[in-house]
Amino acid sequence: MRLPLIAGNWKMYKTVEEARSLAQAVADDLRFDDREVLICPPFTALQAVRAVVEGTPLALGAQNMHWAEQGAYTGEISPLMLRDLGCSYVILGHSERRQYFGEDDALINRKVRSALEHGLRPILCVGETKAQRDAGNAKTVVLGQVRLCLEQVTAEQMHSLVIAYEPVWAIGTGDTATPADAQEMHEAIRNTLADLYGSQVADQVRIQYGGSVKPDNIDDLMAQSDIDGALVGGASLKAGDFRRIVAFERRS
Ligand code: PGA
Repeated sequence: MRLPLIAGNWKMYKTVEEARSLAQAVADDLRFDDREVLICPPFTALQAVRAVVEGTPLALGAQNMHWAEQGAYTGEISPLMLRDLGCSYVILGHSERRQYFGEDDALINRKVRSALEHGLRPILCVGETKAQRDAGNAKTVVLGQVRLCLEQVTAEQMHSLVIAYEPVWAIGTGDTATPADAQEMHEAIRNTLADLYGSQVADQVRIQYGGSVKPDNIDDLMAQSDIDGALVGGASLKAGDFRRIVAFERRS
């Protein structure tokens, strides 16, 4: 049984005060034991949000990380620093990191391994662009990313890793993959994990869908057998929308 994980990626939004009040509104009276809920504020708000989520079911995560523990890396944040602030998860390889900051699979792999070595659970993001999908290459691209980003990751470590399938053309566009298309890709990812690690590991790895997840499409997405949660951007910035997504209907 895979515990669904709904995660909010706040991206580069919210000052400290705004983050505190959004976290408060999300956490207010939140009670679930059949799903896990995570928020990932910007680095600058982690400490303030940590104080809000303590004692609530909300987990705290970051949106990126450097691979080294410390060093002369101006402007970077290390896994030790994230642990120090109470983070249990870190989003890695988001398509915006790939697109605007030149992150490639080799770099993301290095970060994934470092996160795991430091007790952080990576949410490894993969996804194809519109051009790649139109050319019929979506699966080749996504499954290639999965393999490269997981190099040297052990079967044991896979228990703490989450994969987020986020088609780039669906992020922030209002254009969601159909539940059937998303399911097809999630199943292909799970088959690749079975190839790499065996079916027992593949069966327990959670695969989230991300890309314009909203209150009105979450239930249909979550009804798919290989969709184990959602990575939510825009809609996670509105407490009411995010809470509705978190409260998705369980059909199975
Ligand atoms: P979106 O973003 O929900 O705004 O499409 C998702 C993401 O980037 O993780």
